[in-house]
Amino acid sequence: MSFDLVFFGGTGDLTWRKLMPALFQAFRHGKLPPGGRILAVARDEQTDEQYRAWLHERFQDVEIAKRPNAAEFARFAELVFYKKVDLSQPEHYSRVRDWVAERDADTVVFFVATAPHLFTQVCLQLGAAGLNGPRTRVVLEKPLGHDLASAQEINRAVSSVFSESQALRIDHYLGKPSVQNLMALRFGNALFEPLWRRECIANIQITLAEGLGVGTRGDFYDSTGALRDMVQNHALQLLTMIAMEPPSSNNADAIRDEKLKVLRSLRPFTPETVIRDVVRGQYRAGNVDGKKVPAYLDEAKVPAGSHCETFVALRTEVQNWRWAGVPFYLRTGKRLAARDSQIVVNFRPVPHPIFPGANRANKLVIKLQPEDGLELHLMAATGTGVSEQLAPVSLDLDFGKAFASERVGAYERLLLDAIAGRLNLFVRSDEQEQAWRWVEPILNAWAADKENSGEGPRGYAAGSWGPAAASALIARDGCAWSEEQ
Ligand code: BG6
Repeated sequence: MSFDLVFFGGTGDLTWRKLMPALFQAFRHGKLPPGGRILAVARDEQTDEQYRAWLHERFQDVEIAKRPNAAEFARFAELVFYKKVDLSQPEHYSRVRDWVAERDADTVVFFVATAPHLFTQVCLQLGAAGLNGPRTRVVLEKPLGHDLASAQEINRAVSSVFSESQALRIDHYLGKPSVQNLMALRFGNALFEPLWRRECIANIQITLAEGLGVGTRGDFYDSTGALRDMVQNHALQLLTMIAMEPPSSNNADAIRDEKLKVLRSLRPFTPETVIRDVVRGQYRAGNVDGKKVPAYLDEAKVPAGSHCETFVALRTEVQNWRWAGVPFYLRTGKRLAARDSQIVVNFRPVPHPIFPGANRANKLVIKLQPEDGLELHLMAATGTGVSEQLAPVSLDLDFGKAFASERVGAYERLLLDAIAGRLNLFVRSDEQEQAWRWVEPILNAWAADKENSGEGPRGYAAGSWGPAAASALIARDGCAWSEEQ
């Protein structure tokens, strides 16, 4: 199957940091379909050879294991081409059209890896240039809008040019192998399904913790914040996969219909419940990995006195028969104690303990990163004492070890799926809009707080697990975050 893949934003960060290295991995592992061409477009004037040389240079910043050697790069570079296109100039799109028309590829994928404000323009111009035929697809990176209205506006523009099945919205968390494994765990095994409900599960915690700060992206981040950057998309997508009903098939719409139902069942926030159930924080100076790091407000390009949140913790519920009354806690932040992302399913304790000592409830930990795996925490007899003393033990499954040679990274997987037209791991417009609908009352409450000169986010020391209020939020229900258990 021949394909042409066009990157708008061909010299941008996303292209060289993530997309080109991911394509190269696919190429190196023989997973990229033969007969492919890759076109990078950007504003600079340069030849194919100059772009290839630039790309080669950029690859030196990629982690060693993923860096091509000279011979590999030379073979990969044969697939890569460059065109100067100013996205605001409608006539420039004919350069892309002519390149695509040089041959009759089976699939043409346009990946819009530009600043978000250009998405609409690029899609409309692709339509105007006739580049939206049945063999074309467009891939859009987040952030898609900054609230419901702007997301709807983008979706309207995209859908005036491309059908829903041609428009692929990326949430790279869906491409992570661990997230695929969540589907496999739930729907490829019969073991957990009978337990996957309110009668057996006490609460569910989703933590997406980063040790890094905002780096050089201070200006972008300050207009985004953790709620838009991580909760509206990554955290909610994980929540839907945990809470969804079994889909009738592995078909993209069957899955996305079920995810949408979960989003629609989330308890809506009101100004009062935002105050009660949502904690926002902003990092102060501190230590991460033994190194002193500055406060958010002292990072480059962050405006003085910013109220932007770098941490969010919240409590919600999925209001349906399966989950009624089960708290779902979501938490994400920058400059936390560690890069540690996981989903913890806390089961209910035994109803009638008969063994002496602590009786810990079972828990299932789905580890997303840094390693990806599963831990099932059980109680077992230690066999060391005179009486039957129980102690917690865990069954550990390390997917990295189990399937080492076949691991495919998130962007690699999503790019291969985009080329093949597999839509399961892309977000449909109604899911994305529903997620905005749900977070919007939180955004509104915070905006109102700012207008009333409220205090803004709570401070937390870089290298900690966030503001104390996040622990208080969960302690109110008699629970604790997993690192405090
Ligand atoms: C991106 C956010 O979507 O996800 C970043 O914009 C964040 O702020 C990143 O750092 C985290 O992704 P990962 O795969 O490193 O967990």
